[in-house]
Amino acid sequence: MQPRRLKKEISMCGIFAVVNDSGNQAAQTVMEGLKILEYRGYDSWGIALIDQKLKIKDKKFRKYIKKIIIEKHVGKIGKAKTVLPAGRTAIGHTRWATHGGVTARNAHPHLDCTGTLAVIHNGIIENYRELKQDLAIKGHKFVSETDSEIAAHLIEQELKNKDIKKAVFSAFDKLKGLNAIVALDANSNTIVGCRYGSPLAVGLNQNEYFLASDAIAFANRAKKVIYLKDRQAVVMTSKSIKLYDLDKKKLVKPEIKELNLKKQDADKSGYRHFYLKEAMQEPGIIKNISEKPDKNIQKLAKVIKQAEKTIFFGCGSAYFCSLFAKYFFAEAGIDVQAFQAHEYEYFAKLADKNTLGIAISQSGETADTLLAAKALKAKKAELAGILNAKFSSLERLSDIVINVQAGPEIAVVSTKAFIAQLTYVYLLSRTVKGLYKKTCSDLALFAKNLNGFLKPAGMQKIKKLALKLADKQNIFVTGKNLNYPAGLEFALKLKEASYIHAEAFACGELKHGVISLIEQGTPCTVLADNLKYKADSLSSAEEVKARGGYIIGIAPFESEVFDYHVRVPDAGRLTCFANIIAGQMLAYFLSLVRGADPDKPRNLAKSVTVK
Ligand code: AGP
Repeated sequence: MQPRRLKKEISMCGIFAVVNDSGNQAAQTVMEGLKILEYRGYDSWGIALIDQKLKIKDKKFRKYIKKIIIEKHVGKIGKAKTVLPAGRTAIGHTRWATHGGVTARNAHPHLDCTGTLAVIHNGIIENYRELKQDLAIKGHKFVSETDSEIAAHLIEQELKNKDIKKAVFSAFDKLKGLNAIVALDANSNTIVGCRYGSPLAVGLNQNEYFLASDAIAFANRAKKVIYLKDRQAVVMTSKSIKLYDLDKKKLVKPEIKELNLKKQDADKSGYRHFYLKEAMQEPGIIKNISEKPDKNIQKLAKVIKQAEKTIFFGCGSAYFCSLFAKYFFAEAGIDVQAFQAHEYEYFAKLADKNTLGIAISQSGETADTLLAAKALKAKKAELAGILNAKFSSLERLSDIVINVQAGPEIAVVSTKAFIAQLTYVYLLSRTVKGLYKKTCSDLALFAKNLNGFLKPAGMQKIKKLALKLADKQNIFVTGKNLNYPAGLEFALKLKEASYIHAEAFACGELKHGVISLIEQGTPCTVLADNLKYKADSLSSAEEVKARGGYIIGIAPFESEVFDYHVRVPDAGRLTCFANIIAGQMLAYFLSLVRGADPDKPRNLAKSVTVK
């Protein structure tokens, strides 16, 4: 039988581990951590614990060895409780599966042949095949279809003549691709974690040690944090915690930081979903930016003015934010470019030391955006980052950083981080034009009006619209000028949260082909404002209506063209922000009426850490 052709493993999972659990409930502690990390992947989950009671005589080495006990389940964690007994040391994983079906066997952790070593993994082991063949020849038996299980057997092989630390380091060096692995060794009661690409952070609370893909997972337990850099490793035992440079195989002095994440950052604060909580935070975030913007705004504005060429880039919503930059900076007389980061590498050859790259990213860990940034740096270009997650890889790579301070964003669908990034790109363009102060007061006024709009009364029209559209398979979104990139983001929210095929077009695009898709009752959302292109937007709505389209107007004005109207605050060039937020809320209510999970939509994960 031909070996099945392996699809590339795209893994954006959640990793959590604890040593010296103060409550002797390590498995439950891991469970709580995984629940917070579920936005990273929610197909299946598992926990491994050192079995304190069970000791087996190992005849060959004539000594007692400890075993590891594991539980693995398919599906979301939800309200599940662990069945594992008490214990002080455990590791756990929540998975986003692509390679190898969603089964308990493929869930992590994976054991070695002896059952005394367990491994959890985040990333791609690109040379999975060769390693597996070689290990199979050496007699290793594999029980899952994953590439991740390789790591467990590779370490087992290395343990034959090395201690656990050296065995994990040596095995990790053999893995190709962007990976993070964490190994639990029962007999030395040691956890070793290695990072190259996928993020890892260490949490400290006296002699209680945590390890996770995102520090928010131990925000309610740890006081201090260490963010592992690429090619670094951590060795955690009940006595100590040590950091190593994997290239120099030397100890490194850890950069210990205060963990300024609060427990409520990781909970819903009384809201039904993180999505709703985070969307409702948007007026406050815009107000904070208007009152106390990041100190680097003036510096970056100056660099943009001096740069020969400025390129904004990102993925998904972050790319749409980059596209907005083209419109905002044209207003300031500067021709900037916008690229989808996953397409940029090919164009990097046109960059040089006079080029300024501005990366936009919520997580700061999106692999394609990191690769584009590295391609620009390789051409000696200057790099700035407009980011939300502090201490991320992109922050470390950037020469100038603007942290949008939207706070941790847990819902997979980006709302507040996108609006915060968009607010900074707008403020940057106005600062370049010398309108910094005026724009800060415009933003403060807009934040107040937005607060009114997001009140339950303002949401009634959108809730009713969601009920009207609940059974639709297709929804079109059109917009002109600023409302074109706004339409792209609007449509993305509908796709992500409600699974409706929503597509955005520039108003002018319709007549060149896509209007053929319009038939009787086809819902078409028109985003508009009271600026220069109001008439153009309405006339293209007329054309759609003439072919039977059902026109939904998202605008600060009424029009007889609209079959349904959602009034948004009239805020001049900021009206498109309100139109997007109307889209975020429509997507949220559609997700509810269509029985989807607004926080964890199917097939998605919060940060895409592999290319
Ligand atoms: C947005 O709702 C999506 N989650 C997705 O498109 C996201 O914007 C994209 O993956 C980029 O993520 P980043 O901002 O963390 O780099």
